[in-house]
Amino acid sequence: MTSLADHLRRRIAEAGPLSVAEYMDAALTHPRLGYYMGRDPFGRGGDFITAPEISQMFGELIGSWCAVQWRAMGGPDPVNLVELGPGRGTLMADMLRAGGGAEGFLESLSVSLVEISPALKTSQEDALMGAKDVLKARTLYWWNDFSEVPEGPLLIVANEFLDALPVRQFQKTPQGWRERMVGVSDDRKEFRFILADGAPEDGAIPPDLSGAGAGEGDILEARPAAAALAEAIAGRLARQPGAALFIDYGHSESAAGDTLQAVKDHEYRDPLAAPGEADLTAHVDFAAFGRAAAGAGARVLGPVGQGAFLEALGIGVRGEALMAAEPAHGREIEAALLRLTSEDAMGRLFKVMALVSPGLAPPPGFE
Ligand SMILES: C[S@@+](CC[C@H](N)C(=O)[O-])C[C@H]1O[C@@H](n2cnc3c(N)ncnc32)[C@H](O)[C@@H]1O
Repeated sequence: MTSLADHLRRRIAEAGPLSVAEYMDAALTHPRLGYYMGRDPFGRGGDFITAPEISQMFGELIGSWCAVQWRAMGGPDPVNLVELGPGRGTLMADMLRAGGGAEGFLESLSVSLVEISPALKTSQEDALMGAKDVLKARTLYWWNDFSEVPEGPLLIVANEFLDALPVRQFQKTPQGWRERMVGVSDDRKEFRFILADGAPEDGAIPPDLSGAGAGEGDILEARPAAAALAEAIAGRLARQPGAALFIDYGHSESAAGDTLQAVKDHEYRDPLAAPGEADLTAHVDFAAFGRAAAGAGARVLGPVGQGAFLEALGIGVRGEALMAAEPAHGREIEAALLRLTSEDAMGRLFKVMALVSPGLAPPPGFE
């Protein structure tokens, strides 16, 4: 069977080097051979673990956040609850369970899952089978892209979604910025980073990024798909009441740096070693994402650290209640709480940004 590496080597031989974004896009979402398309990468036996898979507290607090925000929007019925990149469906299942605590919230939901992977869609269907009973008939929808989600008031949640969107990389040389590309070694066996010959097209590097203070050899990352998504969401928030929550690892200020990384079996790998076999991500530039959203009309809040955000939402109290209900799991619950919130685990590297309709007050966690 052809591997994705063989396929990409052929593509490079025929059409020349790929941009890092083209390489990343193929590695993650090539229809047959992309990393996400045919596997479940989560958990101890997989490649990495995400916050909702660490503890139910994460999804429950975000479900309550959505219900509070829905009330602040005037309790629209129907309201689209959208999750981008829902993985195994664990986050949505926990959110819906907690959302049941707010009168009328579940009954007004139309749930949209934006997911590109057929394998993960199946996992999500399994995880959310029970949820169909509490929601009105036919209120779970799957889409490949956010643009397909029907218009209307909306609440959006995306955990570790933006980091999977492809980045373009640019390196500063004595001749100016050059795009970093993926080519092959002389024997055509291995992938190699090379630089494009000419300058990138006008606008390829957003003006806000163009690296004040960047020195020779420095790398900048631009994420056109994230900027386009921010603009599309902000456009909707300007037309209809809504709020969106983005949680991811990344930086608050735009800065030079190569953050492309591959992870397999819970370990970092060479991003070029085995395309399609390892998860490939790059840190989220929250400042760039927020600028794109603000420019298209959204009110932007944060980013704040995930630890501070979850603490403001009451993870301490939720943790104590869980420990009282399940004393046999007390240590596990405490360890999960620490992992999600402490500065040397996920509390600071992971950040949370909210986009809300203009005129709406700052949501919980951003006051
Ligand atoms: C790192 S996982 C995060 C999963 C989940 N949110 C969680 O926290 O466990 C990324 C998710 O985004 C999906 N995904 C990646 N690229 C996508 C794209 N371009 N469009 C839609 N879904 C995508 C993946 O299939 C997967 O469900």
